[in-house]
Amino acid sequence: MRKPFIAGNWKLFKTIAESVALVTELAPLVATANGVEIVVAPVFTSLSCVADAIAGTEIKLAAQDCYWEEEGAFTGEVAPRLLKDAGCSHVIIGHSERRQYFGETDGTVNKKTAAALAAGLVAIVCVGETLAEREGERTFAVIESQLLGGLAGFAEADFSRIVVAYEPVWAIGTGKTASDAQAQEVHLFIRELVTRQFGQATADGLRILYGGSVKPDNVKGLMAQPDIDGALVGGASLKAESFAAIATFNV
Ligand code: PGA
Repeated sequence: MRKPFIAGNWKLFKTIAESVALVTELAPLVATANGVEIVVAPVFTSLSCVADAIAGTEIKLAAQDCYWEEEGAFTGEVAPRLLKDAGCSHVIIGHSERRQYFGETDGTVNKKTAAALAAGLVAIVCVGETLAEREGERTFAVIESQLLGGLAGFAEADFSRIVVAYEPVWAIGTGKTASDAQAQEVHLFIRELVTRQFGQATADGLRILYGGSVKPDNVKGLMAQPDIDGALVGGASLKAESFAAIATFNV
């Protein structure tokens, strides 16, 4: 009932030409994807050209961040409506790298998510614990406060355009994936939390992605878990072949 969702987060990699080449190579490889929603998130400067390159394909476009104001004197920021204008349907919000290096907080995640929804984008809201938090047995507490803080004030209807990504910080770019069971445990916790706060129907429909060293050889095991509905892929999304192998995990 929840459509699988595979997103590639290209982070700060690739020129415009390289980005266009990657989606051009990717499109035929994922043409056989089996009922999977496929999204790529290039850097801001490549968005518009990638939007042109994916026209007529099943691939959708995300930005990696946004600001919460529509316009104004906010040097360096990009508004959700401008992302739409550039061809985006989705935006990643609250990635752990933004939290770690750029001062993102649950409060800014909340404002950005509201602005993204208001502009008609789907928000991919990221949560995840650090290694110290996991070792200190604070994983569930951290996830709960990030999720409730980030999604404070939203109504059930908003969840049709919210996707949650669980990305344990210790698994990002490290080659250390959470085990299927470790990931499932947190995904179930998130779904139960959403059930309590926003109701069963909302929780049943919410797609929860796992992120952190997802590769072609571990995606099947993760996707077989009942509460894992997709993946947010970093490193392995930078090559058409490996990202296509992930996006066609069920073919
Ligand atoms: P990774 O990154 O797949 O390279 O671990 C995932 C992410 O940060 O979204």
